Amino acid sequence: MTSREIRQKFLDHFAKRGHTIVPSAPMVVKDDPTLMFTNAGMNQFKDLFLGNRPAKDKRIADTQKCLRVSGKHNDLEEVGIDTYHHTMFEMLGNWSFGDYFKKEAIQWAWELLVDEYKIDKENIYVTYFGGDAADELEADEETRQLWLQYLPAERILPFSRKDNFWEMGDTGPCGPCTEIHVDVRTAEEKKAKPGRDLVNNDHPQVIEIWNNVFMQFERKADGSLHTLPAQHVDTGMGFERLCMVLQGKRSNYDTDVFQPLIQPVSKQCGRKYGATLNSQPGESRYRHACDRRSPARDLVRHCRWTIAEQHGRGLCDPSDPASCGAIRLQLPGLHRTFHACARGNAGERDGRSVPGTEEATWHHRERDVGGGEGFSAYAGAGHQAFGASPLGEPPRGTIPGDKAFELFDTFGFPIDLTQLMAREQGRDVDMKGFEAELQKQKERSRAATTVTTGDWVDLAKGETTFVGYDELSSPARILRYRKGERQGGDQFQIVLDRTPFYAEGGGQVGDQGWLINGDERVEVLDTKRENQLIVHFTKALPKDVNASFSAQVDASRRNLTARNHTATHLLHHVLRKQLGTHGNRRVHWSPRTACASTSVISPRSRPRSSRPSSAK
Ligand code: SER
Repeated sequence: MTSREIRQKFLDHFAKRGHTIVPSAPMVVKDDPTLMFTNAGMNQFKDLFLGNRPAKDKRIADTQKCLRVSGKHNDLEEVGIDTYHHTMFEMLGNWSFGDYFKKEAIQWAWELLVDEYKIDKENIYVTYFGGDAADELEADEETRQLWLQYLPAERILPFSRKDNFWEMGDTGPCGPCTEIHVDVRTAEEKKAKPGRDLVNNDHPQVIEIWNNVFMQFERKADGSLHTLPAQHVDTGMGFERLCMVLQGKRSNYDTDVFQPLIQPVSKQCGRKYGATLNSQPGESRYRHACDRRSPARDLVRHCRWTIAEQHGRGLCDPSDPASCGAIRLQLPGLHRTFHACARGNAGERDGRSVPGTEEATWHHRERDVGGGEGFSAYAGAGHQAFGASPLGEPPRGTIPGDKAFELFDTFGFPIDLTQLMAREQGRDVDMKGFEAELQKQKERSRAATTVTTGDWVDLAKGETTFVGYDELSSPARILRYRKGERQGGDQFQIVLDRTPFYAEGGGQVGDQGWLINGDERVEVLDTKRENQLIVHFTKALPKDVNASFSAQVDASRRNLTARNHTATHLLHHVLRKQLGTHGNRRVHWSPRTACASTSVISPRSRPRSSRPSSAK
């Protein structure tokens, strides 16, 4: 089966079982301050698990673009070094929102793997949650019993919270999980050591392919677990790993997901890419190159997807990769246009499979003729700062911490990349010095951003009615609030049952105004979205949180905002008309000065998420 057929079979399997197929959410998370990048398929459904809004479809399936480069789920260190970790990957998932639970999830997973994909059941091992004393949770015996219908007891293994209790982040929905592992070793290897001894043991051919999470709890900011109003299923299967298993390969990079990227690069470098791990110096670089990493600073697959996403939102210019914050990876034997060459050959494949990438791919291909000089110039500056010309002799000695930090901060080199480049020159990086600089920067930014947010205090049930297109003032009650800390001071976040406040979005700033109760006027400093919630930010909490308020938008500020937003749309329209959609630029505007200007996004000034829209 080709990777395309594998993906389709998954979606068809769940469509036949009553699931609605939905598109992947963007990788750059828009409305959830607890998360920068989408790290799991369930992110876009967080509100449904928490019961913040009802699910329209009780059963959903999709393939989600995920990025694991920071926070709780971070695979940055593993990329390219082994054959089965990626920072950017596709996750095939099926969900039940208060509908089916463990029995059906396990049964349908088994039917897909064994009956449809024809994986030999002798090669399958499963794990389940073995309980946790600190969280006062028992072992998940129900799941073990369900698996016993399909597998002998010696293939059903208990593991601790670390491996078998899934959490999205420090807070949020979570629950015990059961993972499905596949042993793709040779018969001799299996004879020498049973697969059960290698499960969860970092063996490249005995790997987890599918995680089935049973969402039952919410982890609160104080670490406690609260039972969710309903029980849900959240599953995630690693698409690239599944392709490795089904295509009979020993490395994800040998599948048709990666080879169309690796082969042209390898050909242009004049080197043969071997399938065996680290069989030749620099081979991990090819894998690095074809992984799909951080939107701020990484390579081919990620660049194409992220650029396409950002382009779709009018945030960057895909004909100029440098404007989207990419860096070039130095490959043995290749000193230029690596980025362009891989794009040109493999773009169409992903373009068809990942919605939204087609347009950007076309721009890249047109631009490839020119060799991507803008991109190279940017990367070249980073390389010069590193201290080695790609063509010249490398210098010697330890790279000082402040220099490594400058590479990180100014040129977007992740520290692991600096270390990798240093290692290949036989050099060290002064990590202590780097950490010290990083710490200083963290302290600087901590002083400038929100540090903590407490749990919501619910006062009433219900959803917010937004009336801000027609009204600038409305009676309102508080549905929920929470306390946070910002720049050392208190900050409150308030959700109302009815609001005229427009939340930042669509390229338009959030409204300011007041919550008024008699003589008391609580100033609303900003309005933002968090998933489906419209959150009003205030410095103080009203004295009586259960009162009926008058929620009033600052009308003169809103008028300036509306004028500027309209002017922005007019400007965009003219730019598109005159230059074509690829001539898109982000438009900066200010409600105070009532003026608009355009500029290209530079790698150092990544925009806040915004999409030119029809917002009034
Ligand atoms: N949320 C789980 C994971 O990411 C299952 O989808 O592994």
